[in-house]
Amino acid sequence: MSLTVAVVGAGAFGARHVAAYASLGVRVGALVDPDPAVRENLASAFGVPRTFARVEELIEAVRPEAASVCSPGHAHRDAAVTLMTAGIPVLVEKPLADTVRDAEEIVAVSESTGVLCQPGHILRFSAPHRALYDALRAGELGEVLAVSSRRDRSRALSRLYPGAHPAMLTAVHDIDLALWYSGSPVTEVRAVTQSRSGAVSPVLVWAELRHESGVVSSIRNAYLLPESSPNPTSDLVEVYGSGGVGHVDLAHPTLLVQAERTQAPDWLISPPGGGGALAAELRHFLDRVAGAQPPETVRPADGLHVVRVAAALIDSAEAGGAHRRLSPV
Ligand SMILES: NC(=O)c1ccc[n+]([C@@H]2O[C@H](COP(=O)([O-])OP(=O)(O)OC[C@H]3O[C@@H](n4cnc5c(N)ncnc54)[C@H](O)[C@@H]3O)[C@@H](O)[C@H]2O)c1
Repeated sequence: MSLTVAVVGAGAFGARHVAAYASLGVRVGALVDPDPAVRENLASAFGVPRTFARVEELIEAVRPEAASVCSPGHAHRDAAVTLMTAGIPVLVEKPLADTVRDAEEIVAVSESTGVLCQPGHILRFSAPHRALYDALRAGELGEVLAVSSRRDRSRALSRLYPGAHPAMLTAVHDIDLALWYSGSPVTEVRAVTQSRSGAVSPVLVWAELRHESGVVSSIRNAYLLPESSPNPTSDLVEVYGSGGVGHVDLAHPTLLVQAERTQAPDWLISPPGGGGALAAELRHFLDRVAGAQPPETVRPADGLHVVRVAAALIDSAEAGGAHRRLSPV
């Protein structure tokens, strides 16, 4: 594909985007990062020809046809709004923004300009998570009654993202899964957090969600695994339906079929060398940029709803686990 793509934010996940584009045969034409060493290192690792400190310089000099926004959440609004106002489609990493106000502005600009904005809810592109979704939509589990989602991470997250609340940093994945699998917006939440000495932000969030349809969801995220843990995840999502229960367990990825032909789902989310769910997500983004119209897998409004729910979880936890209602969408 000959589109010129830019990546804004050349840190850990920006590097994964560059690798995933490369695995699709798409060359990233430019990087933006205020840190010259960071952007030059990534550019030289992947042969990216141009780098810039600011999005405005990128637009002036290169005018890319699409961009991934991989800067920290507080910087998503400025980058996404500037790019969309210049007519450039954006894939904005999760969370769509780290405040409801910023997320609302991003969605409003996408709507008023008509420029594509795809929130980076990567698990909608993960093969096993998608297989469970397809089974649900085919009615194999009957009516969805409840969703349960667990996500453990290493203590390194408290060190690498010292000011980030786990509700906004990682539980957004679980909120999005609950939204996607239930097919129903969240109307009420209750959450509690726990802290660990030495960590600036909470290291654990436990939350209950009630959806408009009556589905209940349970979310548990914790950053307590040792940094040396060989398997720094225990990701498990379970969907309880009137006709059965479905599980996606990334803690124990297992081949499904080993026979004449080995069939295994692609468990990889964002491998350093490209591929995985991230490449599938970027493929979907580029197909939409190119005018092919596959079904819209994740809408800007989904990204905004996830941020609203995460903000309500933080508010609930700060009020000692009080119930918080979300206004109808
Ligand atoms: N989908 C996923 O599974 C997943 C995983 C990890 C991170 N992320 C998301 O990716 C984004 C980046 O996370 P990260 O882990 O790469 O963080 P990081 O701190 O490693 O990198 C962020 C980079 O952005 C740069 N930056 C800061 N302000 C900027 C601005 N105004 N314009 C351009 N660049 C700017 C920083 O200099 C840094 O190099 C976050 O939104 C994060 O939530 C998503």
